[in-house]
Amino acid sequence: MLSLVLRLNLISMTIRYLMCPPDFYDVDYVINPWMEGNIHRSSQAKAVEQWNKLYNILRELAVVDLVPPQKGWPDMVFTANAGLVLGNKVVISRFLHKERQGEEPYFKAWFESQGFEVFELPPDLPFEGAGDALLDREGRWVWAGYGFRSELDSHPLFAQWLDIEVLSLHLVDNRFYHLDTCFCPLTGGYLLYYPDAFDAYSNRLIEMRVSAEKRIAIEEPDALNFACNAVNVGQTVIMNKASASLRQRLESLGFTLQETPLTEFLKAGGAAKCLTLRITEPIVPAPQEVSHVEARIIQMQGHLLDTGLVNRALDVVVDGGGSFQVLDFKLGIQKQSTSEAKIRVSAPDREIMTNILSRLIEIGAILPTETDRDVQLAPVVQDGVSPDDFYVTTIYPTEVKVNGVWIRATKQRMDAAIVVDQAAQTATCKLLRDLRIGDQVVVGVEGIRTAHRPEVREKSTKEFSFMGAGVSSERRVELIVEQIAWELRQIRDRGGKAVVTAGPVVVHTGGAPHLAYLIRERFVHALLGGNAIAVHDMEQAIMGTSLGVDLQRGVSVSGGHRHHLKVINLIRRYGGIKQAVEAGVVTSGIMYECVKQGVPFSLAGSIRDDGPLPDTQMDLIKAQQHYSELVQGADLILMLSSMLHSIGVGNMTPAGVKLVCVDINPAVVTKLADRGSVESVGVVTDVGLFLSLLVQQLQKLASPLVET
Ligand code: ARG
Repeated sequence: MLSLVLRLNLISMTIRYLMCPPDFYDVDYVINPWMEGNIHRSSQAKAVEQWNKLYNILRELAVVDLVPPQKGWPDMVFTANAGLVLGNKVVISRFLHKERQGEEPYFKAWFESQGFEVFELPPDLPFEGAGDALLDREGRWVWAGYGFRSELDSHPLFAQWLDIEVLSLHLVDNRFYHLDTCFCPLTGGYLLYYPDAFDAYSNRLIEMRVSAEKRIAIEEPDALNFACNAVNVGQTVIMNKASASLRQRLESLGFTLQETPLTEFLKAGGAAKCLTLRITEPIVPAPQEVSHVEARIIQMQGHLLDTGLVNRALDVVVDGGGSFQVLDFKLGIQKQSTSEAKIRVSAPDREIMTNILSRLIEIGAILPTETDRDVQLAPVVQDGVSPDDFYVTTIYPTEVKVNGVWIRATKQRMDAAIVVDQAAQTATCKLLRDLRIGDQVVVGVEGIRTAHRPEVREKSTKEFSFMGAGVSSERRVELIVEQIAWELRQIRDRGGKAVVTAGPVVVHTGGAPHLAYLIRERFVHALLGGNAIAVHDMEQAIMGTSLGVDLQRGVSVSGGHRHHLKVINLIRRYGGIKQAVEAGVVTSGIMYECVKQGVPFSLAGSIRDDGPLPDTQMDLIKAQQHYSELVQGADLILMLSSMLHSIGVGNMTPAGVKLVCVDINPAVVTKLADRGSVESVGVVTDVGLFLSLLVQQLQKLASPLVET
């Protein structure tokens, strides 16, 4: 007779699995991409044969219990989805799809009959058991997947019930919809997995917990053969199929690989691991109940549906690695009435939550707190460097809560930090390089809100109604030109400010005289560009060519490629553009008009500039400052064929300023029109043509109306 101690030892060392015979197995419906096109395409006889092979292999290594199969529940063979077992506790699955929900009571009954303590999740919180929750083989924590079947909010619950740390992983490839299809912890702390099935955060988490020499990352072909859907007992790894290199890798690490074909089950999206559930999972001493999952309620208000704002918010949550639950949605019934949404956002950890929340704030979400907290501040300790988790500004009006009061940040622009002066109750957007020791910078996400005000939307839809779509097609150019002409005249007549950024293409396409007209007629109040626009404009004014091409006749002039250098040299001789104009050297063109009309201009240099002109600012920090001064107070900015200068200007311009971007290249236009701000308009067309139409239209508006 065995001694008691020895028997206890044997019992505790016995490894048990649960399987379910495939009597009623078939592909009857489609709830994952593998099942598509495979309805009733699996062979029953072959499935039984393959299942038996796996069963027999496993019986060599462990005790295999069977749960009786049930007619009408074909996926019940996949016992991995019965629940999550740890010690004598089991968390029963809550299937997402109704096609599998009927399996729940059978699995529950089986566990109860075996004396397990059964835990059940609330009815609307999906969790698919060991398909989506895998114990680290050293028993230190549970890896849990979410994104397709299981809900992130289930993780903190079972962390608590099972008293174990849960690490949440975001699945992003729907072919790998359950964690066990792409992730398999192995004996000795090894991990067999397919990195591409996870988002970047999850990959980082995996890399933090599993050292490089323990990570066995596989490629897509192995992943598609369900190599990660492996059963690991001791040093043995059982799977459907492995490439030669994967076999070699596993064997070199001391594992024995057993391949057994499971093609009939692949048609339903499962393989070896899915067909089994390990029901002896020992508890490792000193467990710790931790789930890093955080949850937060946000509110959104406004034209949520017609502006697509809710969809965008939910995308931000999911793309950022979180999950959501809409708690309340009050729909504005009339066109002019606003809607209100209350959304619960969950994220696998604090850092991811902060990222998601700051993006939600950008699109106008509010984070209510019970205590209604003030904004969080941290001091600058090194000039020009911000505390790490500073809030990065957008173009939208932003308010921060200081001493219980919402105050509006001034100098709103993109990509800045917000500096708060608590005594003065002020907040200002500051570039990193302008931060000074002692400045109090807004960090985190509390007490910050941005306004996407409905009024703004209404107003601009009236004025630019047909431009809502952003980028125009050729046919619409004329209509757009009419609107812009109207707008420019309004701005001029009410003493507003219109700014132009322009690239040399304006000159090459014959637009210089038109832009000169706009300046002469005082439709333009500041000009921003680089060295080239000024050089080519003056080359044309002085030598009649643009980059050596005679624009009148459209032919290259011999020796013309030197013209622009001669012009640069000439201007340098006079000491600058203004001096050259005053000396009568430049007598027409864009720069001439700027000088004559006293319209300020700023030329920002670049590495490729010839010369440069004495006026070109080669210190880019100074150039940015000068640009931003000239942009202050602008009502409209016309961006003419200059990607770099226009993007630069876009970043320093708050929402509410109309941007009109004209470029022949749709990519440039989309990039600029895509600030997510309703006031930006893109026009894809030849800039010379655009300017000529614009001038025609302005002249039409200027001439007295003859028709009655
Ligand atoms: N057809 C089943 C489903 O889509 C397959 C389940 C596979 N099980 C698993 N643990 N991956 O639910």
